[in-house]
Amino acid sequence: MEKRRATITAIGHYVPEKILTNLDLEKMVDTNDEWIRTRTGIRERRILEQGATSDLGAKAIEAMLARRGMDATDIELIIVATVTPDMLFPATACVIQDKIGAHRAWGFDLSAACSGFLYALAVGAQFIETGSYSKVVVVGADKMSSIIDYGDRNTCILFGDAGGAVLLEPSEDPEFGLIDHRLYCDGSGGPYLYMKGGGSLNPATHETVDKRMHYIFQDGKAVFKVAVKGMADVSAEIMQRNNLSPDDISWLVPHQANLRIVDATAERMGLDGSKVMINIDKYGNTTAATIPLCLSEWWECGKLRRGQNIVMASFGAGYTWGAILMKWSLESPVKA
Ligand code: UT7
Repeated sequence: MEKRRATITAIGHYVPEKILTNLDLEKMVDTNDEWIRTRTGIRERRILEQGATSDLGAKAIEAMLARRGMDATDIELIIVATVTPDMLFPATACVIQDKIGAHRAWGFDLSAACSGFLYALAVGAQFIETGSYSKVVVVGADKMSSIIDYGDRNTCILFGDAGGAVLLEPSEDPEFGLIDHRLYCDGSGGPYLYMKGGGSLNPATHETVDKRMHYIFQDGKAVFKVAVKGMADVSAEIMQRNNLSPDDISWLVPHQANLRIVDATAERMGLDGSKVMINIDKYGNTTAATIPLCLSEWWECGKLRRGQNIVMASFGAGYTWGAILMKWSLESPVKA
C-alpha cells in the first residue's frame, strides 16, 4: 500500500496592528536604527497590546478556516508550538480549542522555541500518516513581548508577536506534501538562550522578579555561531538525503532570527537570494510563528505555488534545530 502522506491544505496568519519601530526602541534603550538593521535585518516588529498567545493562535486559525470555508468543529487535533503559553497550564491548545469552538478536537502544546513549528509539523504529520486523523491543525504562536525586558538592548530589539496556522490533511496525490524531516536537539545549549524563572526550578518569588529572571536571556554571540552552522548543516543534509540540487528547490523558508544566519544558510544550499522568504524586516523574530507567517504571506500573494519544492529550516533555544522538505500542494489564491 502506498504511504499516506500529510500535506498543507489551508493556511492563515495573524499579526497585531501595533508596530514597534527601531526609532521607537532608540527612545527606550541605547541602540540605533543603523545597528539593528545591519546586525539583524530588522526594521520593525508587531506588539500585541491586549490578550495572549491564544488570541494570536485563534485568529490565525480563524483566518485559515475562513479561507478554506471550513467549520472549526471539523478539526480533530490542535497542536500549538509556543514558548509563551497563556499560562503554564492548562495548555494553550485547550484555550484555543474553546475560543474557536473546535468542540470535537483534542490538543496539546509543544515547546521547542524557534523550531517549534517544524517539530509540531512533523508530529502532526505522523497522525495523518498513520491514518489516526485526517484534519490536524498545527499552530505556531508567540507573544514574545510578554517575556522581553524592554530595558535590555541585547534582546528587546529582536523579537515580535505573531501567529500562524496550517491544516494538515492526507494528500490526494502521494507526490505532494511533507516528504522528509530532520530534527535535532542539544540540551547542553540551554544556558545560552533561556528564561530562568517561572518554572519548577525557579518558581516566582520576589527575588526572581528582582533579578529579572522572568525575561529572555540570550548570549547572542554564542547562539549566533551554532545557529549559523546548525541551520546550514541541516538544510544541506536534507538536500543531500533527497538528491536535490539548488535548481530543484523553489523556496528556502528560514526561521527569521537574523538575516546573516539566513544568508549563510542560503549560501550553503547554493540558493540565490531570490529563492529565500524573508520578512524579518517587518516582524523581527516571532519564534514559533516565523515559518507559518512566511508561508502564509508568500502563498497569499501568489509567490508560493502548487508543485514547488520548499525547504523549511530553523534553529532556536534548547538548542533545537531542523529542516523539513515539502512539495507544496495548495493552489494559490492568485491566478498565474
Ligand atoms: O531565535 C533563536 C536563535 N537566536 C539567534 O539565532 C540569535 C543569534 N544571535 C544574533 O543574532 C546576534 O548575536 C545578535 C543580533 C543578538 C547580536 O549581534 P552581534 O553582531 O553578535 O553583536 P554582539 O553581541 O557581538 O555585540 C557587538 C557590539 C557590542 O559592543 P562592544 O562590546 O563591541 O563594544 C554590544 O554591546 O554591539 C553592542 N550591542 C548593541 N549596540 C547597539 C549589542 N546590542 C546592541 C544594540 N544596539 N541593540
